[in-house]
Amino acid sequence: MERRNFLRKTGLGIGVLATPYSFLEAGNQIATQDSQSSGELDWESVRRAFDPNPDFINLENGYFSPQTREGYNKFVEYGRVLNQNTSKVMRSEMEDETDETRRALAEFSGTSFEEVVVTRNTTESLNIIINGIDLEKGDEIIITDQDYPNMINAIRQREKREGIVVKEIRLPLNPKSDDEIVEKYEAAMSARTRLVLVTHMINLTGQILPCKRIADMVHSKGAEVIVDAAHSYAHVDFKIPELGGDYVGTSLHKWLSAPVGSGLLYVKKDKIEKVWPLMGDTENDPTNIRKFQRQGTQPIGTRKAIRDSIEFHKRIGGKRKEEKLRSMTRYWTDEARKMKNIGINTPEDPSRYAALGNFFVKGAKPGPVSKKLFSDYKIMTVPIKTSSVTGIRVTPQLYNQVDDLDKLIAALKTF
Ligand SMILES: Cc1ncc(COP(=O)(O)O)c(C=O)c1O
Repeated sequence: MERRNFLRKTGLGIGVLATPYSFLEAGNQIATQDSQSSGELDWESVRRAFDPNPDFINLENGYFSPQTREGYNKFVEYGRVLNQNTSKVMRSEMEDETDETRRALAEFSGTSFEEVVVTRNTTESLNIIINGIDLEKGDEIIITDQDYPNMINAIRQREKREGIVVKEIRLPLNPKSDDEIVEKYEAAMSARTRLVLVTHMINLTGQILPCKRIADMVHSKGAEVIVDAAHSYAHVDFKIPELGGDYVGTSLHKWLSAPVGSGLLYVKKDKIEKVWPLMGDTENDPTNIRKFQRQGTQPIGTRKAIRDSIEFHKRIGGKRKEEKLRSMTRYWTDEARKMKNIGINTPEDPSRYAALGNFFVKGAKPGPVSKKLFSDYKIMTVPIKTSSVTGIRVTPQLYNQVDDLDKLIAALKTF
């Protein structure tokens, strides 16, 4: 398929088709636009705001995503100032800077300032919750076969240590409806169910789960919901309360392109009191979310740079970013689905995925396929092998080009 068809098919070329890629001259700054407008955006400028290594095609942005060139330069400068002034900066600015970032995150996430803290990543955020809630022997936690290992490990450790009962459900790879998913969770619920872990976007396949519907069902039965939003935050467009979770954790270094080692924890206001902080705290009132912020010495530059990443994201617009990312996956998976040797682990319905896609080569192990993609075509992906999903994960970011996807498609044809 040609670029023109890509633009037409994905609806991203509106207003651009008449002069395709004339915006190549537009320079590095992206246009300032109403963030929620669905109109034309200078995607070439967005792409050029990043600085990827030209020696290979990076389709593995799901691990973490690069900062923009401008964002990274500012981040380096924050580090330089800190290094030069050391504790003079930390003692006088750390608390205020952290609060300002919390304020920005709260506004961006549709929560109140009193419900969010900055963490280092999703693992930390959700370990605070998983290990901080009092449970009794025999209480149940529901997980799925496709939740992230770090969360499963934290929950399984409580199982070993305290006799908590863990129930694991199997998720379909290509659900027919939201009902099908909600029913799986519902069937596992009992009077002893206290917590349900819901991964908003599955890291293996990219499947987006109907988080709010699951949460409503769980709440109707008196249990609570922990949402792992590591992959969905700043990727698909939502405000945190719309997920319906009592507790939500995410990594800001993934789709928000904030510095590596930045995360967020949201705790619904009326739930803060019941959660013990992982790093003990007795000074703050138990209802104050600051009790989770006792993290020791942390890099101030990372905290500040989160705000720069939010600003960049807002200039693009959440909806527009989601649609662009989805269109990329749709582009390559639509082609791959026509190939007789390729199978797709990502749901068919475009509303159930965005940038994250997963394919497999029939009869081949994912490791060698991913290796060959890199050695022969300079395309970086990641092989995935779990008891439920075997394939190769492909995660383009905003800086990837149609040409990158065309090269992937051409490579897939050779398997
Ligand atoms: C669904 C999901 N949850 C949690 C994590 C953990 O994120 P981090 O390593 O940033 O803590 C990941 C990482 O890829 C993930 O995909």
